[in-house]
This record gives sequence, structure tokens and C-alpha cells, in this order.
Amino acid sequence: MQVTQKNQNEVLMILSTINKKGGVGKTAFSFSIAKDLDLFLQSNDSSIIESIYPDKAKISTRPSLIDNCVYDFGGFIQSGVLDIAQASQAIIIPCTPLYNALLKTIETIQELQALKVPLMVLITDYQSLEEKEQASSTLQSNFTDLNFFFFKRSKIVENSMRKGLSFKELFLQTPLSRLHYKTFITEYQRLLDTLTQGAINERKHP
Ligand SMILES: Nc1ncnc2c1ncn2[C@@H]1O[C@H](COP(=O)(O)OP(=O)(O)OP(=O)(O)O)[C@@H](O)[C@H]1O
Ligand SMILES: [Mg+2]
Repeated sequence: MQVTQKNQNEVLMILSTINKKGGVGKTAFSFSIAKDLDLFLQSNDSSIIESIYPDKAKISTRPSLIDNCVYDFGGFIQSGVLDIAQASQAIIIPCTPLYNALLKTIETIQELQALKVPLMVLITDYQSLEEKEQASSTLQSNFTDLNFFFFKRSKIVENSMRKGLSFKELFLQTPLSRLHYKTFITEYQRLLDTLTQGAINERKHP
């Protein structure tokens, strides 16, 4: 297994969320994943993370590489971003089905592909099966080796940031939220499981 271990029980995690396209859910997913996996959160982009995730989240123009951290990278991909992306167990790429988002996502994947880090594409904020399939087939026809996860439009994304609760915390709040968010959370749990197990095992480093 190509993973650094402090001791037998503690596996180090570094995850990066990247897409040059804005408004695709990078910050929302990064925050929720960080909180649910008890990881730090760093970002080079302004957002409310420092107030909703006190002591664990930090915004700076050049985030530093630390263990057990999710990186939320907005804007274009600078060298500092590439270094951290390279050190990550997986790169999370949220993408909405809008034409412009797909174009920017293709550009983003082209810049990240050479790193040989597993790429987790989140097709998110889609409203129909047609949108979902069109978005994933567009990306699939341009690249091989992408891992796909699907998150239909849901209030859970906005509520998470607004209430400062992770997706799992929101899901668990009431019987109604358990009902409403069930499909979303099942897929989200599959993502968390892949990030904590699969991504590490699949890492293609020598
Ligand atoms: N599954 C989903 N359901 C509902 N909204 C979603 C979903 N996925 C993404 N979104 C969108 O994500 C937005 C939150 O965006 P967020 O700030 O996390 O994006 P971002 O990629 O970090 O943007 P920026 O680059 O501007 O920082 C919501 O306002 C919503 O439009
Ligand atoms: Mg953001």
C-alpha cells in the first residue's frame, strides 16, 4: 500500500478539490468531507469556511501542505496547487451539467491527468437523468480512468453551508431529513468510503 503511516492505526489523508469553474460545489463538498472525516480544511479562495469550521479551516493565498487536510482550490491551477494536488490521495472534481462547466472541467482534468492521482468526478446539481448522462458521457468520451459520483440537485448543499453542518450531520437531524436526503447520502457515503479506502489503494505512484 502506497500510503504514509504514522503508526498502524493512523492513516494520513490529503485530499484536493479542484475545478477552474466556479459555483460547482467545491467549497460545499470540501467542507462536508473535511468535517465528516475529521480533517483540516484549507482554501485559497474566500468563503465562509473559517466561521462555520472554526479552528480547523483556514483561508490563505498559498495554503501549506499539512497532514489530514482537505484543500479547496478555486481559480486557475498555480504551481503551489499542483504540488499539493500531487501529494493528494485523490483529487475531487465537482462538475455541474452546464456546457461551460463541462468545458472548464475538461480543461481542469487535462491539467491534472499527468499527476497520476485518482480523479473523483462529482456530477452534481443535475435535475434529470438526461442531464446526468450527458455530463458523464461528455467527460467519459474525453478521458479514461475517471471515477464518477452523482449528486442530484438537493437543498442539502446550500443548507450545509448555511447551517455549518456536514451532509451527514444534516441527514441525521430529523426523521424527515433522513427521508429526503437518503439517496444523496448513500452516494456521499460511497464517496467517503472510496476516499478512505479505494483512493489510497489505487494510487499509482512508484
Ligand atoms: N447537488 C447539488 N444540489 C444543489 N446545489 C448544488 C449541488 N451541487 C452544487 N450545487 C451548487 O453549489 C453551490 C455552492 O457552491 P460552492 O460555493 O460550494 O461552489 P464553488 O465551486 O466553491 O464556487 P467558487 O469557485 O465560487 O468558490 C450552490 O449554490 C449550488 O448552486
Ligand atoms: Mg468555493
